[in-house]
This record gives sequence, structure tokens and C-alpha cells, in this order.
Amino acid sequence: MILVTGGAGFIGSNFVLDWLAQCDEPVLNLDALTYAGNLRNLASLQGDGRHVFVHGDIGDRALVERLLAEHRPRAIVHFAAESHVDRSIHGPAAFVKTNVEGTFALLEAARGHWGTLDGDARSSFRFLHVSTDEVYGSLGPRDAAFTEEHAYRPNSPYSASKAASDHLVRAWHHTYGLPVVTTNCSNNYGPYQFPEKLIPLMIVNALAGQPLPVYGDGMQVRDWLYVGDHCSGIRAVLERGRIGETYNIGGWNEKPNRDIVATICALLDELRPDPAGPHARLVTHVSDRPGHDRRYAIDARKIERELGWRPAETFDSGIRKTLRWYLDHPQWVAEVRSGAYRDWLATNYARR
Ligand code: NAD
Ligand code: TYD
Repeated sequence: MILVTGGAGFIGSNFVLDWLAQCDEPVLNLDALTYAGNLRNLASLQGDGRHVFVHGDIGDRALVERLLAEHRPRAIVHFAAESHVDRSIHGPAAFVKTNVEGTFALLEAARGHWGTLDGDARSSFRFLHVSTDEVYGSLGPRDAAFTEEHAYRPNSPYSASKAASDHLVRAWHHTYGLPVVTTNCSNNYGPYQFPEKLIPLMIVNALAGQPLPVYGDGMQVRDWLYVGDHCSGIRAVLERGRIGETYNIGGWNEKPNRDIVATICALLDELRPDPAGPHARLVTHVSDRPGHDRRYAIDARKIERELGWRPAETFDSGIRKTLRWYLDHPQWVAEVRSGAYRDWLATNYARR
């Protein structure tokens, strides 16, 4: 089996669902169920013996060591993290705790487990660390896209904590020989994404007739990748990636935020017209994010050259699928919009 951390979050739950749709190898899913973890994402796996869910923290060494000894996974795919830049600005401590200390604890437990393996089990074991392009910092409009050789220049508490975790993973390979691979991916979108990130927030607010808050001039550029493509990229790296290497994963799809919001509004006008008028009427410019990175762009040629991976979705096909999913799952949306999520909206947008 494989151990997946953070498998109740956005990308982790997509990964677990895709994995079990494609093979029968069981998944041990360790997730602390923070505000971002949602077992509803995995409801279709209820009663499926291939999925074992454990409610727990990656920083709990005793728990992780027990799980590794008991289940003896052949790989760890590490998604668990605090993942939202705006939250990291309001409260960085949780990011250091989970992303840095949590990854450290997991690496130590993995090292102990790997040390007990021999033969094929030892040589085929992998620790796959899921990271972000944000560790490379911000690009100017004409700068070349991030390659795996780009210097680390993280600018937010989130990206700094992810950069720190990448460095720990690298060092655990270099010093202890732990067989690691790291992926650095661009912005994901798709089903089950918590509506605090740009795309799901815009969809959910537009459907509710609420303001669509665009930070600053809205000309910040991100590279957008459909989550299913990220999952297939991770599978490729897990199967065929070279130990100790890092792989950038991206969608070849750079867009300014304003265009993303305009596209969502236009598609919703087509799929779910609002009698009150075009959805773009809801766009509101609010004050910028402190330290806001201007541009991210991924050069994903290494993973294509070495592992034959390319994204299957275009932005047009991916965003249509995503909108369809949100329109078809009003219950999921209603549930995540209650409770903790409402408190967050008050914290982040009240004084903007
Ligand atoms: P998410 O916030 O939706 O999910 C994170 C999950 O981790 C949640 O289920 C949460 O409960 C769990 N978790 C948090 N702290 C934990 C802890 N201490 N122990 C165990 N579980 C814990 O995040 P996501 O968007 O799915 O991102 C997953 C990973 O991918 C992260 O490492 C993130 O840095 C990386 N990543 C995300 C994106 C993106 O666009 N979302 C892009 C590139 C990389
Ligand atoms: P986000 O989805 O938070 O991802 P990240 O900051 O990790 O790239 O934001 C994507 C872009 O959208 C980023 O430039 C910030 C911007 N943004 C807004 O303009 N308004 C919003 O309400 C949010 C959440 C993000």
C-alpha cells in the first residue's frame, strides 16, 4: 500500500480518488482534518476496503511510526500542509508547525521505517514530497519560466515554509540516502477545492450573487493546471522519477487573475444565467495582498522529457469541467460555506 498524507484536502482527495479508480493498491490516508480537510470529498469510498482513513497529525511521531510499522507502505506521498497564502499572512505559526516541523517529523519517521527495510522493499521505497512553484519567488513580465535550477526566493510565510520543507527533504536524501522525489507544481483548480482560493471563491460567490474580490490591479499572473493533471504528474514521478530529483509540473497556461475572473463570469452567464445581469457586474477591486508575487510561470520540459508527462486538459476544457462540478454539487458547496469558512471571510475581507 501507499501512505498519503493530507488525502482529505483538495489535491490529496483528487489523488486518492484517481489512484483507486486506476488500480487496486490500497491507500492509507493520514489527515488531521483541519478546516481544509473534508471527508465528504471521499464519500464515494465509503465501505471500500482499499481506503483506510486515519485521523491524525503528521507531526505525531508516535502515531506515524506505529502506522508505518503496522502497514509497511512502499511509498509516502506527502500532501499535508497549510496551503493558503492569505492565511499564512494572518497566522504564519500554523505554517511553520505543519509544513516545516510536520515534514521534519514525517521525514524522521520515514527514515526509521526505511532503515528496517531490505532488498527490493528498501530499493523501491519512495518519499514523494508535493511542493509548489511559489518557492521560486516572483518573475518579471519577460523573465524565463521557472526551471528546476531556479534559485529559491520565497516571499510569503506559506512559500517560505514550503521552501524550508523542500530543503529538509533534499537534505534527508543527501545526508541519509532517503529515496526522495520532489514535485513543484503551479496553481491547481478543479473539483473539491475549498472556496478560499481564487477559482472556487469566484465560482461560489458568483453563484451566490456576492462580490468577486480582485486584489490590486488583477494583473498578477499564475500558471493554472487542472488537478487531475497534477495527480497524473505525481503518479509519473512516483513510478519513474529519478531519486533525489525535483520535477516542475505546470499547465503551460499563464493567465492574469482578471482574465480568470472574466472567463468564469462569461461561462456562468452561459451555463447559469443570472436574471439580475451579467456575473461580471459583481467584480470588486479590493486592496492588494501584502508582498503579492506578480508572476509565476513553470517550465515543465524536464518532466515531459524524462517521464513523458504533459497535461491532458487545456484551460478551456478544465475550467468547464470545474464549473460543471460546482454547479452539480450544491450540497458540497453549502456545507463548506458554513462554520469556519464564514469566520475566515470576515477575517480576510472585512477591512479590504
Ligand atoms: P488543502 O489545504 O486543500 O489540503 C491540505 C490537507 O492537509 C487538508 O486535508 C488538511 O486537513 C491536511 N493537513 C493539514 N495539516 C495537517 C497535519 N498537521 N497533519 C495531517 N494533515 C494535515 O491543500 P491542497 O491545495 O490540496 O495542497 C496539497 C499540497 O499540494 C500542499 O502541500 C500544497 O503546498 C501543494 N500544492 C498546492 C497547490 C494548489 O494550487 N492548491 C499547488 C502546488 C502545490
Ligand atoms: P490563490 O488562489 O490564493 O493562490 P496563490 O496565491 O497561491 O497563487 O490566489 C491566486 C491569485 O488570485 C493570486 O494572485 C491572488 C489572487 N486573488 C484575488 O485576486 N482575490 C481573491 O479573493 C483571492 C483568494 C486571490
